[in-house]
Amino acid sequence: MKKDLLTLKDITRDDLDNIFELSAKLKRERGKNSYAPLTGKSIGLIFAKSSTRTRVSFEVGVGELGGHPLYLDQSKMQVGRGETVADTAHVLSRYLHGIVIRTFSHADVEELARVATIPVINALTDEYHPCQILADLLTIKEYSGKIDSSVKIAFYGDGRSNIANSLILAAKLTGIRLTISSPEGEHPDAERIAGFANIEWQPDPEKAAKDVDYFYTDVWVSMGFEDERARRMKIFVPYQVNEHLFDLAKPGAKFLHCLPAHRGEEVSGGVMDDPVRSIVFDEAENRLHVQKAVMSMLMGR
Ligand code: CP
Ligand code: NVA
Repeated sequence: MKKDLLTLKDITRDDLDNIFELSAKLKRERGKNSYAPLTGKSIGLIFAKSSTRTRVSFEVGVGELGGHPLYLDQSKMQVGRGETVADTAHVLSRYLHGIVIRTFSHADVEELARVATIPVINALTDEYHPCQILADLLTIKEYSGKIDSSVKIAFYGDGRSNIANSLILAAKLTGIRLTISSPEGEHPDAERIAGFANIEWQPDPEKAAKDVDYFYTDVWVSMGFEDERARRMKIFVPYQVNEHLFDLAKPGAKFLHCLPAHRGEEVSGGVMDDPVRSIVFDEAENRLHVQKAVMSMLMGR
């Protein structure tokens, strides 16, 4: 694997299969083995945005791998007072064995990784959320047994979000069929999906539901986009994932959501809380297992 995981462009299909294999093993053997590839290593977890799942799963994951996690609130670091990203990367490389970062600008994370001599994992930027999508793919593999063109995902809502962008890269990497259903103006940039017959934009939410195995949605107002709240709460209304869309999909279709969820907005309460259709907590749990696998592979070597 490459030094860093900034987007799914950093991994090959072989890397993905290796991540799945190790994730499944770590999941099976959680609490039962003495696998500790981060023993003696300190991993910095820099957060500039709120988090429940990512922070907790990384902190717990580093500890379970034998390492020491340091939670770093970016607003309390000197980078918030004008120290450059490059200087921060030089300094942290002298103390730490790996950096996990959640921030706004994807370019800042690229700069951090370019200068740092230690591995950097993107824990969400405005543009990408690769750890989330790895957990989603592992969840799909667990339910469908495979990740290939036999699987169709329909993503509803903000077609330019970090989740949508990352799902597009997942479809390019694996061949899964991906339909993004979002309104005109909020659809994926043409160059992101050009040349891939397995990826389409479909503004009609009912048409997008045809043959769907997995519905996926995300908040209508991502972190950092709060100024657009009023406009977004109107334009995305027809793209709520609800029982009506499930009626149009494959029987047995499942519901995925990166979480946090807003019932009555991007998903109906009935779908979110459906004990058979909704697999969002399996998906959230898988964050821990895939991130442990990725950290072992990047930071444990
Ligand atoms: N899905 C996800 O990244 O959740 P958090 O924002 O709670 O970390
Ligand atoms: N698109 C959302 C994902 C949260 C995990 C956001 O960036 O807020």
